[in-house]
Order: sequence, then structure tokens, then C-alpha cells
Amino acid sequence: MATREIITYPAPVLRKKAVKIEVFDDALQELANDMIETMYKAQGVGLAGNQIGVAQQIVVVDISTEENEQKNIVLINPVISEGEGKVPDQEGCLSVLEYSAKVNRFQKIRVTAQDPQGNELDFIAQDRFARIIQHEVDHLHGTLFIDRISTLKRSMYKKKLKKMLKNQ
Ligand code: NI
Repeated sequence: MATREIITYPAPVLRKKAVKIEVFDDALQELANDMIETMYKAQGVGLAGNQIGVAQQIVVVDISTEENEQKNIVLINPVISEGEGKVPDQEGCLSVLEYSAKVNRFQKIRVTAQDPQGNELDFIAQDRFARIIQHEVDHLHGTLFIDRISTLKRSMYKKKLKKMLKNQ
């Protein structure tokens, strides 16, 4: 296992549409393991392929319910097939430096995907787990949570980021 570098906004790869994964081999399992390690090292709760420069449909999601736990799930080619309810909550992203904002997400979703061995998954996710999956699936479409906030808030963040990058 190895950790990978996390790519940050406004890098173009974050805007790429991730391609469907067709080959379920050892290399895919290794990629998943690297992503899990990278996510926990960065103290994140989810990570999508685009964020490490791999524009393929793979996400890892932390599903721990207790502190000191590191339970996670790997979703290959995830699709949100149904969604209901709308809840606003604070969100951040490992690829969007020093920013968080309230984003509306479905409270409950149905997800179809595959695991790294190619087995079909079909399940219901709610609340925190549903939010993380929606955020990560967005990444695979080249969408960031800052695309889901008001134009005013987004332009304020862009200004702030410009300043930050200038002072580096
Ligand atoms: Ni993110």
C-alpha cells in the first residue's frame, strides 16, 4: 500500500468525467487500498479517483460508526438510482482547501455499484453515509460541492483561494 498525492482545486482532473471500470484485477484492489490509506492519512471520510489523478469510477467511503474504527467500503462504477428527502449540512472536501459550506443532499439514496471483485452491490444509504456517497459520486462527474452553493459564495471562495495561492 502507498499513499497518493491528493489533487486540489482548480486542477483540471477534478473536472473530468471518470470512465467506467471494466477490469477487476489485483491492480484495482491495490488502487482501492491506496485510496483507503490516502483517505485516512488525510483524515477524510471519502475519496474519489479523480482526487488522486485517476479519472476512473472508483470511490472509497468511511462507514465507521465509532471513533478509533476504520470501516470502509469501496464502490466501483457507483450510480445513485433513487433519492428522497432534502437535507442541508456542512460539507468540506480534501480537494477544496480551507473551505466548507452548507450543501443540500438527499437524505436517503439507493446505490448500485460493484465491489473490487466485480460483485454487484445494491443498497440503501441514509444520512451521513448517503451524504458522503453523493459527494463522492459528484467527483466522478467532475462536480465539486462548491458547484452546489450560491454564485456569490463560490466567487468569494475563489477570491480567497487566489489570495492563499499567491501568498504561498
Ligand atoms: Ni470531495
